[in-house]
Amino acid sequence: MCGIFGVIGSRESSSLILDGLRRLEYRGYDSAGLATIQYSRNNQFGELFTRKSKGKLINLSNLLQKKPIQGHLGIGHTRWATHGKPNETNAHPHLDFSGQIAVVQNGIIENYRDLSKSLQLKGIKLISETDTEIIPQLIGLEIENMLGKGLLANGKTLLSAVQKVLTLLDGTYSIAVIWSKAPDALVVARSQAPLVLGFGEGEFFCASDTPALVGFTRTVLPLEDNEVALLTPLGIELYDENGNRQRRAPSLFKGTELFADKKSFRHFMLKEIYEQPETAQLWIDRYLPSDSPSENSVAFPITKSLVEKIDQIQIIACGTSRHAAMVGAYLLEQFAGVRTNVYFASEFRYSPPPVSSNTLTIGVSQSGETADTLAALRMEKERRDLIEDSNFSFHQLGITNRLDSSLAREMDNVIDIGSGIEIGVAATKTFLGQMLAFYGLTLLFASNKQKRSTKEILELSNDLRLVPKQLVDLIKKHDALSKEIAHMFVETKDVIFLGRGINYPIALEGALKLKEISYIHAQGYPAGELKHGPIALLDQHVPVISIAVPGVVYEKVLSNSQEAKARDARLIGVAPNGSESAIFDELFSIPKVSEWISPLLTVIPLQLFSYHIAAHKGLDVDQPRNLAKSVTVE
Ligand code: AGP
Repeated sequence: MCGIFGVIGSRESSSLILDGLRRLEYRGYDSAGLATIQYSRNNQFGELFTRKSKGKLINLSNLLQKKPIQGHLGIGHTRWATHGKPNETNAHPHLDFSGQIAVVQNGIIENYRDLSKSLQLKGIKLISETDTEIIPQLIGLEIENMLGKGLLANGKTLLSAVQKVLTLLDGTYSIAVIWSKAPDALVVARSQAPLVLGFGEGEFFCASDTPALVGFTRTVLPLEDNEVALLTPLGIELYDENGNRQRRAPSLFKGTELFADKKSFRHFMLKEIYEQPETAQLWIDRYLPSDSPSENSVAFPITKSLVEKIDQIQIIACGTSRHAAMVGAYLLEQFAGVRTNVYFASEFRYSPPPVSSNTLTIGVSQSGETADTLAALRMEKERRDLIEDSNFSFHQLGITNRLDSSLAREMDNVIDIGSGIEIGVAATKTFLGQMLAFYGLTLLFASNKQKRSTKEILELSNDLRLVPKQLVDLIKKHDALSKEIAHMFVETKDVIFLGRGINYPIALEGALKLKEISYIHAQGYPAGELKHGPIALLDQHVPVISIAVPGVVYEKVLSNSQEAKARDARLIGVAPNGSESAIFDELFSIPKVSEWISPLLTVIPLQLFSYHIAAHKGLDVDQPRNLAKSVTVE
């Protein structure tokens, strides 16, 4: 969640760190801070300076203008609070009792309570409410001990102290550490939370995510779990958890569009909604080209033999990615005939143990760094590896927008949704990309398992090819309509979204989008559930948004919508224009399409509706309160 950026080299570090943090602010923005070490020629040691501020990075930047700090070595942090309120005291970096060691951390130290108690027994007074502060304090004690034994104050001593302290920590984290008495050393470590090293010209970097580095260098090396690195102006030394020196070559990061530009849009979210036709077109060109040898084949990086083996699928994801997975599960079961279950990643650890060897486990994550999803996938791999049956193989697939992510590195097979970098915290184009990945998988399974006729498969493929153009028209139309009606919902406190069958996940996604950016309470229900409880909430103050697409559940959804209207709810339809749509007080009309592909279209008005309400309320659409784009804590 939080963002870490560090640099050591020959340039003034504070402006470089601010630049790096700016590209990491999507990870957390409730407070920010940095620490630098200024080397003094008169004194072989350096001097440590820190600056912290509550709120967005701009506050830290303003503070630095007023009170600049110098030094060629520094670490910075943008915070998403886990332990302790977002305030200056809890903002990183945290210092040790001597005020000479500074640490930034991303993640959670799970045993921090026990470690705090033992520090307090040693007379160390903790200043913040964070789990992080114990790290510099422990390093401080360790260094005191080492210096007492005659070790020299230098980078190697800092490295050894950090290595020692890491053995005491439980949790998922990455850290960066500096010490004023080692002004030519930056020590970093990773335990299941991302950290990438960057190799510049006479300078070296660390960051929580590759885009933060690309302004400085494209030569990168992701740290592996439990690795520690010592960065000096002369180079990088890498060690495994046992202290053995590791030698791995960095690679050249090839991503092209890591500098996000809002263009003429007011917010990234709106720009990203408008980019969806392009996402769909790119996906079709790449995976479903009309000139492919067999017109209905999907050019996915998954072998035919793997598809043939699989008779069950389980999908693990969180939030919007889980909604895409639910659309996928509907398609895989109903169209391709493969039994599919979807799990909340955070609940997966309570799922029944594996019984079938022919199961494909799919992890879906746009960022590829969601801790809940990664932990669930790792747990599944571990428990399957324990099964002593040579026929019991493990098949896994990742669906992500980030080929440089932990998910992509850890999965055997990966589908790149190729949506391009998404900056808005509310996922839009990546949701479309994830759904499209599932359409591709569905076509693949349906044709390989011969569950559908060639005609049906061809029809679905052809319908998909029409989607980009339909999206262009829909976005234009509903951008204008949502903008026009947004003011009517500014005072609204609750909204109910109804959908059924393949559009039930879209009702969930519509409600999630509205909650996330407009702070209006919203709930998505299967339309048939309305009468089993939620209907008690309805009156003229609770709008109901109903997704009604001609197909197997059309009549039923219309009846459920009537039930809401009869309770005075303002009824908004996402449906094709026609005589049946007359029941709606407002209509977000969509073209008459096959129910199979309808989720790709019905989600569009819901994204724009949420966007315009939030924008009308003057809210921070791209960085809504309490959220972060990449959720790297469990
Ligand atoms: C989407 O709008 C949300 N910000 C959130 O639910 C997100 O989908 C979830 O945290 C999962 O993220 P991931 O796709 O990066 O794993």
